Amino acid sequence: MPKSSLTFILNYCIFLIATGITGCSEKSETRPPLKVEPHSPAPLEGATPEPVVVTEKTRETYQWYCVQCHGIQGKGDGINARFLTVPPRNHNKAKYLETRTDEQFFEAIKFGGLSVGRAPCMPAWGNTLSDSTIHELVHYIRELCQCEAL
Ligand code: HEC
Repeated sequence: MPKSSLTFILNYCIFLIATGITGCSEKSETRPPLKVEPHSPAPLEGATPEPVVVTEKTRETYQWYCVQCHGIQGKGDGINARFLTVPPRNHNKAKYLETRTDEQFFEAIKFGGLSVGRAPCMPAWGNTLSDSTIHELVHYIRELCQCEAL
């Protein structure tokens, strides 16, 4: 190939690249400014837990699954209470419940009394109730005792 045509091709390439670059920069100048919508960033899973709200459904769940032992008002005087070797916890008794964390309640409800060093006659509800329902129940018990977690 003659040298002159090689330089022509080279020059042509440079021309193409140059117009390509300027073409791009021109385009970006005419592009409408990016609209930045104000938004709260999506919560990372597990990082910011949903706020737990005690609803009528939570109370119903308690009445359905817990009152046989813990009593309708959570006083530990359910109809089954007297048949248990260890008395069901009185969920109104702030003095004791304040010495326990919400995590301990959660574990006790999900995995049973044994999981937190308590009696096995507190059954495990992990196969019956969802984690979010259990979180609600923990909050409900805090309502019943009018006490804070440790
Ligand atoms: C078969 C009877 C029975 C049922 C039903 C029952 N519990 Fe219990 N629960 C117990 C007993 C007994 C204890 C006390 C265990 C101990 O003190 O060693 C207890 C203790 C607890 C504790 C306290 C654990 C601690 O840290 O001392 C929580 C919280 C609790 N129950 C929640 C519930 C919830 C919520 C339900 C319903 C989903 C429920 N229980 C259903 C018998 C029961």
